Amino acid sequence: MDTILNKEIQNYINANLNTDLHALLLKKSPFPEVSMQEIVQQIKGKQVAGRKFPFLLKEGILFPPQLNLEQSSSEKTALYKSGILKGNTFIDLTSGFGVDAYYLSQNFKSITLVEQDTTLLELVEHNWKILNRQARFINLKLEDFLNETQEYFDLIYLDPARRDQQKNKVFLLEDLSPDILEIQEKLRAISGQVVIKLSPLIDLKYLVSVLPGISRIDIIALKNDVKEVIVFLSDENTDKVICNCVNLDSGEPAFTFKFGEEETARSEYSEPEKYIYIPNNAILKAGTFNLISQKFGLKKLHPNSHLYTLNKEDKNFPGRVLEMEMIDSKGIKKKEQYNIISKNYPLKPEEIKKKYALKDGGNDYLIFTQSKKGKIILKSV
Ligand SMILES: C[S@@+](CC[C@H](N)C(=O)[O-])C[C@H]1O[C@@H](n2cnc3c(N)ncnc32)[C@H](O)[C@@H]1O
Repeated sequence: MDTILNKEIQNYINANLNTDLHALLLKKSPFPEVSMQEIVQQIKGKQVAGRKFPFLLKEGILFPPQLNLEQSSSEKTALYKSGILKGNTFIDLTSGFGVDAYYLSQNFKSITLVEQDTTLLELVEHNWKILNRQARFINLKLEDFLNETQEYFDLIYLDPARRDQQKNKVFLLEDLSPDILEIQEKLRAISGQVVIKLSPLIDLKYLVSVLPGISRIDIIALKNDVKEVIVFLSDENTDKVICNCVNLDSGEPAFTFKFGEEETARSEYSEPEKYIYIPNNAILKAGTFNLISQKFGLKKLHPNSHLYTLNKEDKNFPGRVLEMEMIDSKGIKKKEQYNIISKNYPLKPEEIKKKYALKDGGNDYLIFTQSKKGKIILKSV
């Protein structure tokens, strides 16, 4: 493992950070002691780290194969989670490349990492020495660890792996490794707080119905892209699930509600007024379509549009608020640049762009949608 850290090899890696990796893979390694594949793995690692976890762009850090990089959390979402979790004893039962573990462990005194993949765990152990972070590293299947342990932990964290990479439509807890439903009782017996990261594809109603004792769910978006659903299991009996929708790096406030509140919330309807409100994607994922309008006193354009309107601008709204006017299609000039939004409208943004010969981007918006009276087009003013 240490051979690749040889100075000359590292210089070669750093000199090729922007090289076409497919072309590089066809070449022979200039160093007999490492293969080109191993070199490319490190280059890829540094490229991904630049975008996803820049704290690892340090001399001496080693990177695992691409799948492990893809499965890792980003520095930004890990940092958010570390801000809400603290205590004395922490265990990450699915530590993987250890990005979550690194950030979560900041607020704990005793840290344990469990991982079934021996090579990956050795690599993380090496990296944590470079990062000067102490931990106990356990190379076991977590089920075996759970069967043996007599310890109690203030926080257990799990970020299960997807068993079948193809199954990205249907998303069930049984498809995960480990199967949370099978080990939940044991987890609760040895910890007061169990926190589980799940994919944004999980259906929240299904989740609450199959997993008892959920006290909180955080839906985490980063720049309006929903990245994680975080579930908190509590050992106290609770019939209320608090749901937090956050959009990191947006400056937007979090939106918090009690799961189930949506069932009794009602929306009023209106044709477009001066401002159009577009909730962020964490809120849309939570499905609080009526509650959001009720809480902010907004009127909805159409039952299926999830766009709202008001004559006033509310800067505390968790989403975009745009001043807009209704136009007819003749008001759209060819070759102009717009951010095109299509909601509850027969054409997709790409088709609209083609139909009206528009360019993507810029500061102006065009929204194609429906109000209760029918199809409408809105343009930012
Ligand atoms: C999604 S990754 C974790 C990524 C990690 N949270 C991070 O930020 O880098 C899941 C990891 O759990 C490990 N894993 C899955 N099932 C396991 C089991 N039954 N016992 C131990 N480790 C397991 C996998 O090998 C994989 O490395």
